[in-house]
Amino acid sequence: MKKILITGGAGYIGSHTAVELWNAGMEPIILDDFSNSQVEVLDRLEEITGKRFVFYRGDCSDKTLLHEIANAHQIQGVIHFAAFKAVGESTQSPLIYYKNNVGSLVILLEFMQEKGIKDLVFSSSCTVYGQPDVLPVTEATPRKEAESPYGNTKKIGEDILVDFVKSKAGVRVVALRYFNPVGAHPSAKIGELPIGTPQNLVPFITQTAAGIREKLTVFGNDYDTPDGSCIRDYIHVVDLADAHVKALHFLTDQPLNFYDVFNVGTGRGNTVLEVIHAFEAVNNLTLPYEIGPRRAGDVVKTWADTKKINQVLGWFPAYDLDACMRDSWRWQQFLMKG
Ligand code: UD1
Repeated sequence: MKKILITGGAGYIGSHTAVELWNAGMEPIILDDFSNSQVEVLDRLEEITGKRFVFYRGDCSDKTLLHEIANAHQIQGVIHFAAFKAVGESTQSPLIYYKNNVGSLVILLEFMQEKGIKDLVFSSSCTVYGQPDVLPVTEATPRKEAESPYGNTKKIGEDILVDFVKSKAGVRVVALRYFNPVGAHPSAKIGELPIGTPQNLVPFITQTAAGIREKLTVFGNDYDTPDGSCIRDYIHVVDLADAHVKALHFLTDQPLNFYDVFNVGTGRGNTVLEVIHAFEAVNNLTLPYEIGPRRAGDVVKTWADTKKINQVLGWFPAYDLDACMRDSWRWQQFLMKG
């Protein structure tokens, strides 16, 4: 069975990807320092898959540990999730973001080269496009100057990978530019675990519905969109996880020194108000919300052109917005029971 190292494998997207890898006949080897995840995730993964995954606790920039893992397991590919992702925090502590997100990537690439591990899937973000001039946004759309240190770490990460591949380092790399990951595993055993007050829309919605937050504030309803609220492309986390599996399969058929990038979104944009109303309708709930001022730095509208990932990776999303809202709410309910 092909062994794939997943850095950040106990996290939100990493844990779902571990399940999909296993379902596709590959064995995830998880490395996580629990800086934004919890040890219980390992039990939940076992409940879902029936398999206790190999797990290492530690920092993915610990080269000694990486070698220890590779000496114990024949790693054939890496999916690199481990990174910080809070936009606001990154503006307050940029060096922590550069050190963690950029520094760890460099060390991981050195390690891959030392061990002759060829295949890497890298977590990038649609944040590299900023506010695109033309929609939907294709992979050929020029990237914009990053709005935050977090966004810049993703952009720099892509640049490092391009240069590394150009140097004939003997690797094959796919960067996936995620749009807005939401939802949770349909089993409701794993999902997003926001620490403190959620900054992202969907965790804030579910916590408000749960009574943890008094009400949701919609950040602006006077934008140039059909109902005035911002538009995003919300992608179910299980579909996103599946994109990583498809990317790994694709990489094995590519020549060495290969790099490519794919958008991962549904191709549909939804406004904040549409998301709220979908959540209310599918879960039969009323969500307390108010319209507030715009949030500084928000992109007004963005959604993916998905032709490339559809055609080249043969990847298509299976879940719609209603399924995202149903699964997000089921996960929140599971968290409250726990
Ligand atoms: C944000 C980042 C993005 C990053 C992602 C990581 C910005 C501009 N973008 O994405 O770079 O990759 O987080 O998690 O910061 N909203 C509300 N009320 C809320 C929360 C959000 O109305 O309480 C709205 C926002 O204005 C936005 C939409 O919901 O229109 C989605 O927001 P969010 O979930 O924070 O994601 P992004 O801003 O798209």
